Amino acid sequence: MESIDRIMAHYGFTSRDAENLRLLRPIMERFRERFPIEFYNQIKYFEDTPAFLKDDETIKRHQEGLKVWFMNLFSGEYNNLYLKDLERIGSTHVKINLSAHYVNAAMHFVKWFCGKVLREEISDEKERLFLWGSVEKILDINLDALTSSYIEEERKHYFISQNVESHLIDFARRFSYGLNLFLVLGLVLMGVTVLGLFVYEVTHIFAGDIEKGLLGTLGSLLMLWVVIELVDTEIKHLKGGKFAIKVFIGVALVAVIRKLLVIMLQAEAIEAQFSLIAAIAVLGAVYWLISRIE
Ligand code: HEM
Repeated sequence: MESIDRIMAHYGFTSRDAENLRLLRPIMERFRERFPIEFYNQIKYFEDTPAFLKDDETIKRHQEGLKVWFMNLFSGEYNNLYLKDLERIGSTHVKINLSAHYVNAAMHFVKWFCGKVLREEISDEKERLFLWGSVEKILDINLDALTSSYIEEERKHYFISQNVESHLIDFARRFSYGLNLFLVLGLVLMGVTVLGLFVYEVTHIFAGDIEKGLLGTLGSLLMLWVVIELVDTEIKHLKGGKFAIKVFIGVALVAVIRKLLVIMLQAEAIEAQFSLIAAIAVLGAVYWLISRIE
């Protein structure tokens, strides 16, 4: 368990802040009942709230817990017991599988609520800003403690040891990045080869075999288009983008179209042409469906 002194030091929380919060207690006491009601009015719009706060009894229990938590913010005494209590609240949320996102969003509301109270109750701006600094610190410390339970929970899921596994994962990540770079290099080489193929096909046109030359050139241009798409997708993937499955279907589609162009030169291969056309129709439909989903 972390020590409260260490955490407080990281947030620059001093005895002056503790004193400021204690001074605010009488003011906050007047909002003790209103706080959980407004809190609930805010969080009831989260999609999953009804699944967690499912009946009046649970809502009431939560509101009672919130009142105590709210007033403890302004107790002026922050020791290891205080931290332990926050960790208990955090682990209750983890146990019920409440997303950390909701806790963050709810804490944002608490910040807004406290700011509103201070604006309503303290007219002197300098004093208000001074007190607000301490409120902000204690709320950030609370969020830190409440969400660290989620990290603690994740840490429990180690098979051998945290150290060995994090090194292994780090190595795997670097290795996969290296492989991806290698893939980009391979694709660039492929692009150069397809350019060579294009030039070779053009020579057929000049050699007098115009039909073969034109269809071959068209096929190599299609392949070039696919290589460009693949390089683009890979670069986006390396920059953290989603992997586009559509491109793979595109590769298959172009390969079949190219084959069809070649086969069309042979008048006798009618059956093969029909099966290639059917394959293009199926791949085209899949390509269209995936494009719509992506
Ligand atoms: C600043 C954010 C929050 C604070 C300070 C807070 C505070 C608390 C406290 C003090 C408890 C009682 C813990 C115990 O005694 O073990 C609790 C439990 C619980 N909290 Fe929260 N909560 C927060 C956010 C939320 C949100 C956003 C939800 C739901 C969307 C939620 C749902 C619950 C539920 C379902 C329980 C268990 C209630 C029970 O069955 O007794 N909490 N919370």
